[in-house]
Amino acid sequence: MNKKIEVLSDKPALVNRALELILSKIEPAIQERGQFTIALSGGSTPKPLYEAIATQKLPWDKIHVFWGDERYVSPDHQDSNQLMARRAWLDKVEISESNIHPMPTDAAEPSQAAVKYEEHLQKFFQVSPGEFPALDVNLLGMGDDAHTASLFPHTEALNVKDRLVTVGNKDGNSRLTFTYPFINAARCVIFLVAGENKKPALAQVFAPQADSSTYPSRLIQPQGELWWLLDQAAGSEVAHQK
Ligand code: 6PG
Repeated sequence: MNKKIEVLSDKPALVNRALELILSKIEPAIQERGQFTIALSGGSTPKPLYEAIATQKLPWDKIHVFWGDERYVSPDHQDSNQLMARRAWLDKVEISESNIHPMPTDAAEPSQAAVKYEEHLQKFFQVSPGEFPALDVNLLGMGDDAHTASLFPHTEALNVKDRLVTVGNKDGNSRLTFTYPFINAARCVIFLVAGENKKPALAQVFAPQADSSTYPSRLIQPQGELWWLLDQAAGSEVAHQK
């Protein structure tokens, strides 16, 4: 694992650095594999980044967009991660629907939807069950309880190691989420974390010893690159340690 922590002066600087990093991954991926694949995170922190990506002139026909987690609501629901990313980015650029791969939330049971998305991913990446394909970039956020994607503390989703997608549980509300082994298969994982309220969780995530089921972001140990991009409010303690 190649781990890097950067503390940026403020949120606009954080967004600019994340944009720069993502843009630097697109051309090499297209050169090597003919396409660039990225999984998006939800929540509030990445929205200005998606708005910034929408201003770029990019080879949209070679870019494929997935989601790393989703709230189990309809695509037009205000809590939908898909809706947020479409409004902030995808609806503003010439990307075809066949390059947009939202998590399905229309199955009677979330577990059925998890299987459906897993099969979609296996078909897209041409892998067999049990294999973990590598996304070029997997974007993540972190909650102030140190959850990431929809891998919440002390939930069953943390124990799923043989699937790509499973069902998350936030206070009894179902979510769909990538499993941590699938996230860890990515070529580049980028955490985007902003705000003072995230400091205590970050201290536990970066601590030499702490329980991963209590602080799930500790489970993110990718084979490839791991970037922790923090704004000053979140990362001031980390900045001191460096
Ligand atoms: C979600 C996310 C989740 C998010 C964190 C941080 O669907 O909610 O994917 O993991 O990244 O909750 O959210 P904020 O950026 O809003 O603090």
